[in-house]
Amino acid sequence: MRANLPSRTATIVSAARYLSGEGVSPIGGDVDGLAPLLSPPHAAGWLSRIARLTRSSPMAAKLVRTASGGLVDHAGLRTRYIDRVAREAAASGIGQMVVVGAGLDARAYRLEALLHLPLFEVDHPATQGWKRQASSRIHRTGGVRHVSVDFLVERLGARLLAEGFAAAVPTLWVWEGVTPYLTAEARKSTLAEIVALSAAGSWLAESYMLPALASIPRALLPLVRAAFGGLGEPLVGAVTTEEIHRELRESGWQVTDDAGTMEWVESFAGGDGPSVALLERVVVCRR
Ligand SMILES: C[S@@+](CC[C@H](N)C(=O)[O-])C[C@H]1O[C@@H](n2cnc3c(N)ncnc32)[C@H](O)[C@@H]1O
Repeated sequence: MRANLPSRTATIVSAARYLSGEGVSPIGGDVDGLAPLLSPPHAAGWLSRIARLTRSSPMAAKLVRTASGGLVDHAGLRTRYIDRVAREAAASGIGQMVVVGAGLDARAYRLEALLHLPLFEVDHPATQGWKRQASSRIHRTGGVRHVSVDFLVERLGARLLAEGFAAAVPTLWVWEGVTPYLTAEARKSTLAEIVALSAAGSWLAESYMLPALASIPRALLPLVRAAFGGLGEPLVGAVTTEEIHRELRESGWQVTDDAGTMEWVESFAGGDGPSVALLERVVVCRR
């Protein structure tokens, strides 16, 4: 991780989410209009230039979509899906929200249903430092507490409680795009911390990476892994759907949904699917 700059993968995912709403993907709409505001200046600069181009040229949009290898579509669809879960959780009466490995995620600043909730954004200290500075320009009625934790070596619970997290209040936990970067041990210990702090009525949306990237030819898998390793954030944590559901059930969650690219395409993109289905899914559960 780089000091005082967000993690590279957080910047890339935020850019992909933004571009999905800028003519690049059939998902359309304003998926994450706050991304340029939260991105470091160099990324915000190229993001605006690419968006200007893709808004005016369908050919450029098609090129960016193809070059992203499915990431722009996937990021937009994943965002839409978790946005829907977050609205449902808000309607069910949750009283606070924790974004685990928040990166440049702007959900809690974008969705009206979440704006009044106390918000805790947890991240690695390097990314956290940047987000704290960048998000100070955005007003949220419910405020925001930034909590620095390295999940590989630190415990989440004590830090959250020290920042005013109320363990008796039902919580929406969003753990999006993070577990692929964690060892199984770090994923399980972080889950145990989340469980210990989840009152009845809490929700969890957790994304996870499947062991094989199905629609990517097996021969290319080492290349994909090497690309993430080259970004300084190697993919180390893959888990099967069966394993993660068992893990969640055994820790007292009721799994209510599990969806990936193909299901999201049906829901949000009128069946116009991405060229590559990334093998990441989101499991939703309640207590
Ligand atoms: C791909 S980004 C996803 C960010 C955000 N959730 C989103 O979907 O836009 C991965 C995030 O996980 C965080 N992360 C990775 N390893 C971590 C660790 N060991 N401790 C704390 N955060 C970590 C990174 O700092 C980064 O913000």
